[in-house]
Amino acid sequence: MTAGGLFALIICGIVLQVGIGALVAFMRHWRAYVELKGRVIGNGVNDGAPSARQPVAPPHAAWRDYRPFRVRSKAFEDRARSICSFVLEPADGGPVPDFLPGQFLTFRLSVAGQANPVVRCYSLSERPGNDAYRVSIKRVPAGLSSNHFHDRVREGDVLEVKAPSGHFHLDSHGAGPVVLIAGGIGVTPMVSMAAACLHENPSREVWFFYGVRDGSEEAFALPLRGWAERHSSFHLHVCHSRPAPDEAEGRDYHHGGHVDITLLRQVLPLKPFDFYVCGPSAMMESLVPGLLEWGVPAGRVHYEAFGPASLPRLDTPVPALDVVVPAEPLSVTFAASGRQVQWTGGSLLDLAEASGIAIDSGCRAGGCGMCQTRVEEGEVDYEHSPDFDPEPGTCLLCVGRPRTNLVLRA
Ligand code: FES
Repeated sequence: MTAGGLFALIICGIVLQVGIGALVAFMRHWRAYVELKGRVIGNGVNDGAPSARQPVAPPHAAWRDYRPFRVRSKAFEDRARSICSFVLEPADGGPVPDFLPGQFLTFRLSVAGQANPVVRCYSLSERPGNDAYRVSIKRVPAGLSSNHFHDRVREGDVLEVKAPSGHFHLDSHGAGPVVLIAGGIGVTPMVSMAAACLHENPSREVWFFYGVRDGSEEAFALPLRGWAERHSSFHLHVCHSRPAPDEAEGRDYHHGGHVDITLLRQVLPLKPFDFYVCGPSAMMESLVPGLLEWGVPAGRVHYEAFGPASLPRLDTPVPALDVVVPAEPLSVTFAASGRQVQWTGGSLLDLAEASGIAIDSGCRAGGCGMCQTRVEEGEVDYEHSPDFDPEPGTCLLCVGRPRTNLVLRA
């Protein structure tokens, strides 16, 4: 063979190789595209409307009212010792009913110096299916309940606990990829969700973004980092907004700054993720609209803010869409107190308190049922579906507002 023939043969070989490589790459991308398209269309969420998928039904309340639980153990979860976990077992020796990862427990506490019981809700921070529940509580300066838990509650103490509840939860039996985003103490329901996913389906793709100020505030560092090492499907991204001087990016944390949309867009592959977000209001107010602007369908964005939510829910039917703005001021009569006042905005609980009427309240966010009050006349609207389902003929004052003139038994 001549030198020219040999050269032509080599060129042909190279061209053939490049062509085969390009074809293989194209087929791979095409398959991924077809699969992605099929999943999006199959889920009916390609138009930005809420998902057509049936949400997982929360289990019915496992018991009514309060049940005694004994504190089996108590342990700090962070180096700053500001987040403390309490493992609780039924004091009556009965079973530990299941819950959905993301749900919370409601506690009724006798706090020194308080005339009335203090009611508070705390997210479960362990996966379902254990022989006990676990909540993890951050100490809040001047927080009645959190300081009581940290300073007064001891192992062996018995606490009054309502059954797990809450609409913010994940289907841990599903297979679709999920992104869990936590800020500060918002990590508690996310740890429950991640643990449940890994337990039910270890190959399920989970991306976990966790924002804290520095390493001393990082809770559950051991399990989270352990999961990331052991499971190739679990991707951990810890962000320190104000790293300590001796902390190094890449060694002690993954990214400097906050968890934000820019980071998510940089890191996440193109997939039909479900996003679960839990953190302080400022984080939610930036991340949730950011996800929607990015093109994530509303039905795939699920979130929970601490305290009264400042964002309308997107993942549940929103009765507030029917809220009628009254043409003239509405009157609210607190029948038991003999007071009639005009409603000009805000929640019925705010209105009652501003009128000098004492109402029992706990979470002030529609979660605990403590402010449940009988409606004698009229109708009540909600800004968003409350987590606690009020009994027929009653309403939750903390998230309720009048639709018509109202008479309340308060
Ligand atoms: S105070 Fe908890 S539901 Fe109203």
